[in-house]
Amino acid sequence: MKKVDLIIHNISELVTVSGSNNRPRAGAAAMNDLGIITDGALAVKDGKIIAAGTTNKIKKQYRAGKTINATGKTVTPGLIDAHTHPIFMGDRADEFELKLKGATYQEIAAKGGGIKFTVRKVRAASKQELKTNARPYLHRFINYGTTTIEAKSGYGLTLKDEIKLLEAIKEFKSEIRNPKSEIGLPDIVPTFLGAHEIPDEYKNNKQGYINLITAKMIPEVSRRKLARFCDVFCEKNVFEIDDSREILESARKYGLGLKLHADEFAPLGGAELAAQMGAVSADHLMAISDNGIKQMMQKGVVGVLLPGTTFALGLKNYAPARKMIDAGLPVALATDFNPGTSFTESLPMIMSIACVMMRMTPAEALVASTVNAAWALGEAANIGSLETGKDADIVLWSAPSYKHIPYHFGVNLVETVIQKGEPQIHTDKHG
Ligand code: NIG
Ligand code: FE
Repeated sequence: MKKVDLIIHNISELVTVSGSNNRPRAGAAAMNDLGIITDGALAVKDGKIIAAGTTNKIKKQYRAGKTINATGKTVTPGLIDAHTHPIFMGDRADEFELKLKGATYQEIAAKGGGIKFTVRKVRAASKQELKTNARPYLHRFINYGTTTIEAKSGYGLTLKDEIKLLEAIKEFKSEIRNPKSEIGLPDIVPTFLGAHEIPDEYKNNKQGYINLITAKMIPEVSRRKLARFCDVFCEKNVFEIDDSREILESARKYGLGLKLHADEFAPLGGAELAAQMGAVSADHLMAISDNGIKQMMQKGVVGVLLPGTTFALGLKNYAPARKMIDAGLPVALATDFNPGTSFTESLPMIMSIACVMMRMTPAEALVASTVNAAWALGEAANIGSLETGKDADIVLWSAPSYKHIPYHFGVNLVETVIQKGEPQIHTDKHG
């Protein structure tokens, strides 16, 4: 009998998402393969999964100081949110109402609202104030079953303010593995998004702002190792294809991985650019072309779909998830959590929208929120499935089957969240 730290046993439905994980899951067959073990158990030691199997088998091989009985529960890998904007100041509830009355996101932005509103608030705030504002949101990701998020800067748009945002992210990250610190925060993968909007002071000089990004911001972010990825909001009247390419080329030169907000509103060819540049993911893709799907497939770019944005903007043109999956493009899901276009920390809610509005199956939605999201963050070796050697990021759900996660929508079925082997403080039970 080997001694481990924790055994979770009698799990009614253990969804390991294990199996062919040497590349992102693509195609309906792979995306519906969940590696389910009935009456399952997990053995955990030093923050890692030691073994997954039936309760019978695990109990014969391991003993533990601590056990959790998961009778009647579903257990999945911790959810992974591969696209969020969580460090900001203020809210945009008034814009939400304006949009309901018919104003478009672009019209609000053109009047100085939208991202620019949040930028003004962020510039006026200290790093401490930003952290105080972000902490409850980060905590809520855990409450809804998310153990890792990607987090973007992008509401500063000056060297100083972008660094302030990335430092806040870094400080949160340093709390996670410190046992003395407040727990209940997700792990964070930081992304530099200086190219989120053209700030007012460069209104008539976009190239000047691009130069600031490539000559000052990217080198500084890279030197101080403040981000893993660089992202660009590639959109009509913001950073168009050539602008985005210039920024991504600089980021690549400085060793950052690449991501792209691509083809969200207009079919500019962002997906094609992401493929040409070797980006790890292209995100949004509501207006993607067939050629874009083909090129992303050829280059192994993960499509990160953000249906919460389509939903909250009241639009109808959801990204063509079915077409992408059936064509063989690996797809991930994310919240796009931000105060403007998608104000939710709940990946389960996103899974519900993905199933109902994009016709993804519950299994595809779960694969898209776990192992494929891990691929979209370059983290698939460590997280995304419950397999020997991976981090013990685990969610226990008050549900008899994983299908209930999207089916039972708008409520929180999370019972317990375990991150790196540690049960997290969880304040939102059944909330
Ligand atoms: O991904 N589209 C650009 N960025 C965000 C929105 C940010 C905001 O409106 O504050 C997005 O939807
Ligand atoms: Fe976004």
